Amino acid sequence: MTVAIHGLKNPSPDYGRGQGGGAVVVVRSVPMAGAVELVVYDSASADAVKPGQFFQVGVRAPHTILRRPYSAAWSDPASGRVGFIFNVVGAGSAWLSVRDDGQALDLLGPLGRGFNLDRDRPVVCIAGGLGVAVFPGVVQALLARGRTVMVLQGAQTKTQLLPADRFQGATVQVATDDGSTGHQGSVIDLLAHLIVSREKDPLQLSGEAQGGGVDLFACGPTPMLRSLIELAGRRQIPLESIQVALETPMGCGIGTCLGCAAPSREGGYLLTCQEGPCVSADRIDWDRMTDAFHG
Ligand SMILES: Cc1cc2nc3c(=O)[nH]c(=O)nc-3n(C[C@H](O)[C@H](O)[C@H](O)COP(=O)(O)OP(=O)(O)OC[C@H]3O[C@@H](n4cnc5c(N)ncnc54)[C@H](O)[C@@H]3O)c2cc1C
Ligand code: FES
Repeated sequence: MTVAIHGLKNPSPDYGRGQGGGAVVVVRSVPMAGAVELVVYDSASADAVKPGQFFQVGVRAPHTILRRPYSAAWSDPASGRVGFIFNVVGAGSAWLSVRDDGQALDLLGPLGRGFNLDRDRPVVCIAGGLGVAVFPGVVQALLARGRTVMVLQGAQTKTQLLPADRFQGATVQVATDDGSTGHQGSVIDLLAHLIVSREKDPLQLSGEAQGGGVDLFACGPTPMLRSLIELAGRRQIPLESIQVALETPMGCGIGTCLGCAAPSREGGYLLTCQEGPCVSADRIDWDRMTDAFHG
């Protein structure tokens, strides 16, 4: 359940724009254990952002020179709002987590490329940990296009799962490391389990995926993405049917620092902030893809 900590109800369309425009926090809440959701009023960003795109968010914590990249969790052009869901891992996210209603946020974006939503077939969204943050808006957009959606969400424990009611209209299955709810194990174990047990698989994933009839969208730590790629190899799931939202380290977010380079299958590197963060899995050289954060 989402716990609202603070909230401004129905801000006027110009709320927060008095001093040169910009975004302003209108609701701060805790959507699941260890995470914060900031709802920001910024009608230009809410209009412009596509599912899977990100913003470079200015943070004012001591010794944080660079902006921090955050995916838009969802957007609602009608109310001019954009949501961000994140956890605290360092100084930037700690500063962000205590932004309160009425405070301005400095958003640069939307940036990068979102998911390609255009195909006309079912989608399985696979989220590991805070990777789930990108999916509320993605799922909403897929459902609006009439696509059938299944969400597979994995976390360490039950309380760290984003509640299933954030994915209304989709089928949701969960996995936890400690077995406190859902499948015990990783979200990729859950996917593997669904592939071999057709009767529990409303999308008939086993048959469809092997024939290339289902799209898989994934976001989570690099080891999770690598296990997905390995599973795809074992089950003959074409890599072209998988899109991944990469969270490589980013400096500028606009293609100048080269900090976000990911190894390309064609040799060399691609810049995640320009060609991603959402890319087809067949564009990445997974043998050279390392986890910059977890060794
Ligand atoms: C395109 C993109 C979208 C993102 N969207 C989200 C989101 O929606 N929600 C969310 O919670 N996070 C998201 N992230 C990760 C987020 O940007 C980082 O967690 C954040 O920059 C950390 O800043 P910090 O100052 O708090 O931590 P720092 O002091 O910069 O780092 C603290 C610790 O966190 C680790 N860390 C930093 N960045 C990442 C990362 N990308 N992945 C894993 N560990 C990291 C560092 O190695 C270090 O150990 C996204 C990253 C990218 C590239
Ligand atoms: S983050 Fe600087 S080039 Fe991509």
